[in-house]
Amino acid sequence: MCGIVGCIGSKPAAPMLLDGLSKLEYRGYDSAGIAVRDGEGDPVVVKAKGRLKVLEEKTNNGHSVPGSCGIGHTRWATHGEPSERNAHPHMSEDYFVVGVHNGIIENYQELRDKLIRKGYQFESETDTEVAIKTIDYYYKKYQMGPIDAIAKTMVRVRGSYALAVMFKEYPGEIYVARKDSPMIIGVEDGETYVASDVPAILKYTRNVYYIGNLEMARLTTEGATFYNLDGDVIEKPLTEIKWDAEAAEKGGYEHFMMKEIHEQPKAIADTIASVARKGDQGKYIDLETLELPEEVIKDISRIYIVACGSAYHVGIAAQYVFEDLAEIPVTVDLASEFRYRKLLLDPNGLVVIISQSGETADSLAALRIAKESGVRTLAVVNVIGSSIAREADHVFYTLAGPEIAVATTKAYSTQLIASYLLAIQFGHVKGLLDAARVDELITEMETLPDKIEKVIDDKDRLQWFAAKFANEKDIFFLGRGIDYAISMEGSLKMKEISYVHSEAYAAGELKHGTISLIEDGTLVVGVCTQSDLYEKTVSNMVEVKSRGAYLMGLTSYGNYNIEDSADFVVYIPKTDEHFAASLAVVPLQLLGYYVAVTRGLDVDKPRNLAKSVTVE
Ligand code: G6P
Repeated sequence: MCGIVGCIGSKPAAPMLLDGLSKLEYRGYDSAGIAVRDGEGDPVVVKAKGRLKVLEEKTNNGHSVPGSCGIGHTRWATHGEPSERNAHPHMSEDYFVVGVHNGIIENYQELRDKLIRKGYQFESETDTEVAIKTIDYYYKKYQMGPIDAIAKTMVRVRGSYALAVMFKEYPGEIYVARKDSPMIIGVEDGETYVASDVPAILKYTRNVYYIGNLEMARLTTEGATFYNLDGDVIEKPLTEIKWDAEAAEKGGYEHFMMKEIHEQPKAIADTIASVARKGDQGKYIDLETLELPEEVIKDISRIYIVACGSAYHVGIAAQYVFEDLAEIPVTVDLASEFRYRKLLLDPNGLVVIISQSGETADSLAALRIAKESGVRTLAVVNVIGSSIAREADHVFYTLAGPEIAVATTKAYSTQLIASYLLAIQFGHVKGLLDAARVDELITEMETLPDKIEKVIDDKDRLQWFAAKFANEKDIFFLGRGIDYAISMEGSLKMKEISYVHSEAYAAGELKHGTISLIEDGTLVVGVCTQSDLYEKTVSNMVEVKSRGAYLMGLTSYGNYNIEDSADFVVYIPKTDEHFAASLAVVPLQLLGYYVAVTRGLDVDKPRNLAKSVTVE
């Protein structure tokens, strides 16, 4: 999962490439590089190990690299260590073909061996260099044009890729291709852009084309021409991006993560408003945009939720809500497991893929497997036009807007909201929730944004508490039911950005191992928002306290007797308990954030992680 960007027009390319890459750093940030061509001359290639700022310094913010046609790349290493040598762009001899790539070429070793037998030499350990030299090989051997040489390479390679390539003999042109890795093309007044994601080019244009799977394009100052794998020209609709560039800027916050935590109330309100309507009998849910008619919902016998990372944790919370409100059995799978299991899917089942990016490789593969087995699929996705959104039978778009911090907050929150809305509507269609109950539930959901504001208002207390525990070795999160799902997300937030080891445990499982890890002063966070499970979880908290744990309790206002057991308590406003995750997750996001800040870490770009995991 790397970021690629390219541009061609009349303006200097290098400053734009660096600016575009700065918006894609969330995709990878261990090295970066650009290749820029001035007229018919050979490209100037500059690469640097480390963050983008090293490349910016090396090129005087791009001003020392002349030319108006170029490609750039920010890397998250898969094949070969992060180094200048392995950084992109890669090229064939004498700059014949120069390119950048996002994805993984699975059969790169076999292709590399073949190319070595044909006399090619390799400068790096990357699979990308193999792809570029394969294009070079076909281009020269068969004296093909760029499109045919790329198409032949696409047939030969296995894996995923978004490629942007320049050919020595075609100055003023960039060629791109994609399979399973995201890529968009933008056009505006004689300037043409390509990028892995919208924020990279949003400052320059709002008019974009979504290039499809196994498609290619030729970019010139006049725009883009699209081709299928047979080399035939194909037409694409131009789409206008509605959200503004500001949405992808920090807007006065120190980190994107903090900005995005504060954006949750609006993101949630927007997502509710996208399907909630008011009629004669009160508020109701309209899933017309999902093209999911009531007759179809009535027949759903099982739900399979499949996702990765935080989206998987949404699935765990959603399971309880679906089973309770819609009485449909739910299984929740990690996409990376689902795709390699013998699946005995019920033909009347519904596979729900949850994904912020809509590009996560395992989730996309899981979706395709579900479709191949003939089961209906529904995607809950944030990025419009992403692969998962395009391929699923039905799409529920979360309206979180662009999320930049690697650790998700507002996308997670809108995914929860989408799952509540689906569960309510499914329950209603099945005759389990009458119109009055639906109205009541929607009305309660509509109070969540204000309640989240209140939780955020209390952030100073959490900052103080986080500073006290910033040097912890281990932190444990406990809960039952929905509180267990909240614990899983709280624990992930903690470890991914603060690098403090943390684990979430179903509170009842504690005695089967974890309790032996409790030492004097170990921080244990007990989540207790579900009244029927409250006493049981508090008992488990007392058990760890008697082994020396320091207890933080997280519960709703009113449950003040928790103070008899916990050393520190965070209260959230009362809400319908099905929706408790939406409120309880916020203090845990803030806790992870402040521990990371206290430890002086790069909150938005945690080490070794990337936001969009487009490789397996
Ligand atoms: C990465 C991100 C997580 C995210 C997961 C799934 O690990 O850092 O925040 O939950 O991918 O991504 P998706 O885009 O499919 O929701």
